[in-house]
Amino acid sequence: MQHTKSVIRGVGHYVPPRVVTNHDLSTIMETSNEWIVERTGILERHFVDEGVHTSHLAEQAVRNLFDNTGLGVKDVDYILFATLSPDFYFPGVGPILQNRMGFHRIPALDIRTQCSGFVYGVSTADALIRSGQAGRVLLVCAEVQSPVLDMTTAGRDTAVLFGDGAAAVIIESQSGSRSQILKDQNSGILDSILGSDGSGAEALCLRAPGSASVGFIRHEDIEKGNTRPKMDGRTVFKNAVTRMAEVVSEILERNKVSASEIDLVIPHQANMRINEFLREKLHLPKEKVFNNIEKYGNTTSATIPICLSEAIQQGRLKKGDLIVTVAFGAGFTWGANLLRW
Ligand code: COA
Repeated sequence: MQHTKSVIRGVGHYVPPRVVTNHDLSTIMETSNEWIVERTGILERHFVDEGVHTSHLAEQAVRNLFDNTGLGVKDVDYILFATLSPDFYFPGVGPILQNRMGFHRIPALDIRTQCSGFVYGVSTADALIRSGQAGRVLLVCAEVQSPVLDMTTAGRDTAVLFGDGAAAVIIESQSGSRSQILKDQNSGILDSILGSDGSGAEALCLRAPGSASVGFIRHEDIEKGNTRPKMDGRTVFKNAVTRMAEVVSEILERNKVSASEIDLVIPHQANMRINEFLREKLHLPKEKVFNNIEKYGNTTSATIPICLSEAIQQGRLKKGDLIVTVAFGAGFTWGANLLRW
């Protein structure tokens, strides 16, 4: 009997060239390098120049992915696009990328789970492959967030956190007999656990444009700052540490794996203190948790695949390694994937 599993074939990422340091931000709002480093771990982030859209960053990331894997547009039969910053309110960015890069007229599905976009995307790709609906899925995670941030002192609690960036992975089907699949060290996507709790929706949101505003966007929305992201940082922080630790414990338990057997945890990059808390909770040494928040800030859906891409470039992953990815984001949404490299 044939068995099908999903494996990550390759990764590519791209960030826009313009680097914005904490010092740069301190010249336009009341903040300081010391505050940002101490409270978040961020040193700098990358911002797009005017006219660069989410689909442009996505395209560069996909081109890098294709260079790394030797694959091309003709090899993909499904596009999943995770973003909170689409080029247009509608349609999604998936079809825009499909047309721009000349993919066949394959399905293109946008995922709207914010910082959890990658973990939701991996789970969805795995389900599409195992159910026979797709053979090779392109999962793209891309964000252009800088133009929407409130770059005044009133918005400093969110403005200093976020950056722009993109990454893409190919997830493909591998079929064979059960024994063949087991012989391959059972590499691939082993499990995913996802969750949501909409009671936290207003703790991190961008209200307008949206159907809750008459006409989707009112003058009042602009005056009140409803077209900028608003965050109750402490509530988000508390929920993030709790849910991320919980979902990692749950996926390890369900797969009968102990924390000491994990080779690398790749957490969402929202705040270094959140990731340190998670590391301590799992009793892991520093080298078993991958972070790059100091260079990019929070690139929302793109954080985990950018980390994955850099982990490969730095030789931090070897065949057979057990990896946990974990994220928490607006919604609230969260999730974890267990992967064998
Ligand atoms: N620079 C300087 N001071 C700042 C600041 C900034 N960028 N942002 C906030 N402050 C000030 C506040 O105004 C407050 O001043 P006050 O004590 O005079 O009122 C003080 O710093 C402490 O603010 P607080 O919000 O309690 O700080 P914090 O330690 O909770 O850190 C966050 C704020 C946003 C960094 C933190 O709450 C956080 O990371 N939350 C989660 C964010 C997140 O994960 N978001 C994405 C989810 S995917």
